[in-house]
Amino acid sequence: MRVVVTGAAGQLGRDLVDVLSGREPVGGTGGVSGGAVLDGVAWPHGASPGHGLEVVGTDLPELDLTDRAAVRAYIETVRPDAVVHGAAWTAVDGCEGDPDRAFAANALATRHVVEAAGRVGAHVVYVSTDYVFDGTSSRPYLEWDPPRPMSVYGRSKHAGELEVGPRGTVVRTSWVCGFHGANMVKTVLRLAGSPGPLRFVGDQHGSPTFTADLAPAIARLVAERRPGVFHLTNGGATTWFGFAQAVLAAAGHDSARVEPIATADLDPPRPAPRPANSVLDNAAWRLSGLPALADWNDALGRLVAALGAAGADVAGADGAGPAGRAAPAADRTTGRADEPPASAVKKGI
Ligand SMILES: NC(=O)c1ccc[n+]([C@@H]2O[C@H](COP(=O)([O-])OP(=O)(O)OC[C@H]3O[C@@H](n4cnc5c(N)ncnc54)[C@H](OP(=O)(O)O)[C@@H]3O)[C@@H](O)[C@H]2O)c1
Repeated sequence: MRVVVTGAAGQLGRDLVDVLSGREPVGGTGGVSGGAVLDGVAWPHGASPGHGLEVVGTDLPELDLTDRAAVRAYIETVRPDAVVHGAAWTAVDGCEGDPDRAFAANALATRHVVEAAGRVGAHVVYVSTDYVFDGTSSRPYLEWDPPRPMSVYGRSKHAGELEVGPRGTVVRTSWVCGFHGANMVKTVLRLAGSPGPLRFVGDQHGSPTFTADLAPAIARLVAERRPGVFHLTNGGATTWFGFAQAVLAAAGHDSARVEPIATADLDPPRPAPRPANSVLDNAAWRLSGLPALADWNDALGRLVAALGAAGADVAGADGAGPAGRAAPAADRTTGRADEPPASAVKKGI
């Protein structure tokens, strides 16, 4: 069995390549969520991670997925059994200012991947986002709730979902963090070294999700070729404020340094609107009898421990968070992460 991973240099892609290659992702549990997710999975063709399953990762600049001919030539050469399509332009505020680039990278590129995969009979697993919802629901979103994206990023990712078709798989996840890449955990740990209060928005609710737990769950969907939409997040929910407090606490810092602010008080305001509630009920996964991912706090503890053990410069060679206590506007509008650093200055301070 052969699996192509797009976005293989990204934070999720790196862990997907590790898991599918039979390597433990950094911050993992020896499987996922207590080790259960990949136990007993029947892999096609007698292959399994580390035992005959071949993983081929690709990313920019090797292959630009917006180039239809290049994607077709690549897939017809590699001839995978499955494609995990994690590549995306994930800079939410960047997308807001350049819709053409956003739709090319997130929607048209997905069309190319699906078309090419179809030519070789490969199953497609497309990674999507909680930002396909408008955030007005008073309960966690089900897979069957109608999407209503508010941002260009959310619309372009939803457009990508529509390209996948009924036989493919869509995995919606949220607030992604991992050992590799720039993310909220690394940003907070970096800001912990600077004096003064840290301010994060307290009126956006979601589920932090850790790539070491998400990647094995996606691998299971690949193995079983389960079609349809799956919400896949770590358990529990919080706000960016609560998340920042938890990161500091997990690293042994004073969590009382974090102060909540309202989204409306971000100065300057972020270009792209974010959903106030983007908690995803992992209903399709749960109702399929599959084991829930660990609580986000548990996964956070593992990641913070792994970063500490690695002696990580948390800004890291993988991608730096913003410098200083308050994220400069440039970092917050061009950062790679789906949800770039949430630190902000309150109006008038
Ligand atoms: N990060 C989050 O909080 C979050 C939340 C919900 C869902 N998601 C989804 O989860 C997936 C993985 O996210 P992530 O955080 O791992 O993202 P990431 O670290 O930004 O990785 C995405 C990768 O895709 C590459 N890429 C962008 N445009 C491409 C193109 N035209 N052709 C080929 N590769 C291209 C990027 O390269 P460059 O870096 O050079 O652009 C990057 O290496 C994405 O589909 C994202 O939409 C993420």
